[in-house]
Amino acid sequence: MGTEHIRNFSIVAHIDHGKSTLADRMLELTGSITDRDRQEQMLDSMDLERERGITIKASAVTMKYELDGKEYMLNLIDTPGHVDFHYEVSRALAACEGALLVVDASQGVEAQTVANTYLAVETGAEIIGVINKIDLPAAQPQVVIEEVEHAIGLSKGECFPISAKSGEGVGELLRAVIQLLPPPEDHSDEPSSALIFDANFNDYRGVICYVKVVGGKLRTRQKIRLMGTGRTYVISEIGKFAPQMTAVDELGSGEVGYVIANIKELADVTIGDTITDDANPAEKPLPGYQPPAQMVFSDFYPGNNTDYPKLRGAFEKLATNDSSFTFTPQSSPALGFGFRCGFLGLLHMEIVQERLEREYDIDVVQTAPTVSYEVITKDGETIRIDSPSMLPDPSHIEALKEPYVRLEIITSSDTIGGIMTLAEGKRCQLIKTDYLSKTRVLLEYKAPLAEIVYDFYDLLKGISHGYATMDYELIGFEKSNLAKVDILVNKKAVDALSVILHRSNAEVRGRKLLQKLRKAIPKHQFEIPLQAAIGGKIIARETIKAYRKDVTSKLYGGDVSRKMKVLKKQKEGKKRMKSIGSVQIPQEAFMSILDTS
Ligand code: GTP
Repeated sequence: MGTEHIRNFSIVAHIDHGKSTLADRMLELTGSITDRDRQEQMLDSMDLERERGITIKASAVTMKYELDGKEYMLNLIDTPGHVDFHYEVSRALAACEGALLVVDASQGVEAQTVANTYLAVETGAEIIGVINKIDLPAAQPQVVIEEVEHAIGLSKGECFPISAKSGEGVGELLRAVIQLLPPPEDHSDEPSSALIFDANFNDYRGVICYVKVVGGKLRTRQKIRLMGTGRTYVISEIGKFAPQMTAVDELGSGEVGYVIANIKELADVTIGDTITDDANPAEKPLPGYQPPAQMVFSDFYPGNNTDYPKLRGAFEKLATNDSSFTFTPQSSPALGFGFRCGFLGLLHMEIVQERLEREYDIDVVQTAPTVSYEVITKDGETIRIDSPSMLPDPSHIEALKEPYVRLEIITSSDTIGGIMTLAEGKRCQLIKTDYLSKTRVLLEYKAPLAEIVYDFYDLLKGISHGYATMDYELIGFEKSNLAKVDILVNKKAVDALSVILHRSNAEVRGRKLLQKLRKAIPKHQFEIPLQAAIGGKIIARETIKAYRKDVTSKLYGGDVSRKMKVLKKQKEGKKRMKSIGSVQIPQEAFMSILDTS
């Protein structure tokens, strides 16, 4: 039947610019949703997503639309708008020939708009500009179209002013999708090949793979092979999201839908892998895309109401539906039993933390996020590490590399000075400054990820009074002048406290750490030296003065029961202390330090 009637496209946008509302309106206009009482925003299916207003998992939906007497099949692949989920945007785009770039007419182009455009351009997708929310009194569609022309290079004819809320202009937009975006290439005479661009796990049906068929077709009861793992399965159901799962007999070249094939675990499926026919396989897999890498790490320990097995159980469940989240058991003499968790970025981490609390009623104590590093050994080997304790002996290290990102910041021109000072202090190199309009500027930097996950975003928001937006994308690991900084308490190194820092700010950060530690460790009967050292060389020092604490001295009179209570509390506190040498460090002290390390 050919592919001329098919259009596969994504909607990409900055958070809140109206992507889900537009998707919803398109579903309505194409008659894909008939139930008037349907929940708003079909494509956001998780509660948390709806509440936080962010789209987490990519989903796909097939719509029918008639133009000039011809019926078209429009496959809309939803994408998340946030920076941490870039890889999901990329994998959704890998299944598309086009993308709608939504920009809020009252806000203008934002950092994520630009970052998403780069992704779309990289995957070769054609872009249509959508200027949304033209119904708002503050909308300035003409100004925003100019910004889009400037920042993204689209012409006026490629931009469509709409109101996703009222539906104004959405019909024209659907027509533009058909007229301006190309159909998928027709490879129906080739052996079966389909790209897995997403997958999720359903308690009743097992793993559901979202696929785009490229070569030949897929049909029910076909014996398929996943080219990455070599494993074979039989398709038990194949179908489309219309928007509910609707079984069909087959999916042809260019079509998008789902495959269920008795795959038991999400871990058995690699997103980006190719499905082919077992008996008549494709010659080579389809070009995949970069799998996501966990770039941000943090240790989670059970909090007040939680024990270790409960936390592990919750993590196991979370991981079945989020293949980009990792957790490995971790035990340290100082902190007890917990997990080292890997995330795509800071928001991803926040989401996991929030889901733990909400869905599993679990309280966690969490250390500050750190990034992963690469170690080049003297033997020329490259090792990826995500914690200072994994560093090999310094005599085996040839060089250390840290992850760098391309960072885009869009801000008002009167805040540029402050932001540039902030960026310089964070080792960022300015790549370009681009005035989008008289009052709005795009700053592009090359920046070390470690500095960005530290406190950059909060400071940026502060300097710009909440106005600036930022987005970043990993560009790779580069050699950097890094050092492992050991923290010594009473002359003894405490492993759980060591950190990897850039030498340019090791002294300042080292000192800050010691100052926190000084406040967090109670005074002892002897003086305790605190030191930060790089390879035996002391770079900062603080001292905890000797003091004998009498916890009952503030209690006047003879209220014995009150005194007993205070003493009991002190005793309990001591039980939680960890002895390092002869110094007792409360667990909270470790936490408070790691909290900004
Ligand atoms: P994320 O899922 O967080 O990425 O957001 P989104 O881009 O999907 O935005 P969403 O569709 O959730 O819209 C954000 C807000 O803008 C909601 O409160 C919508 O009701 C509102 N909105 C969307 N489109 C329009 C529009 O055309 N006009 C007006 N006035 N409001 C709109």
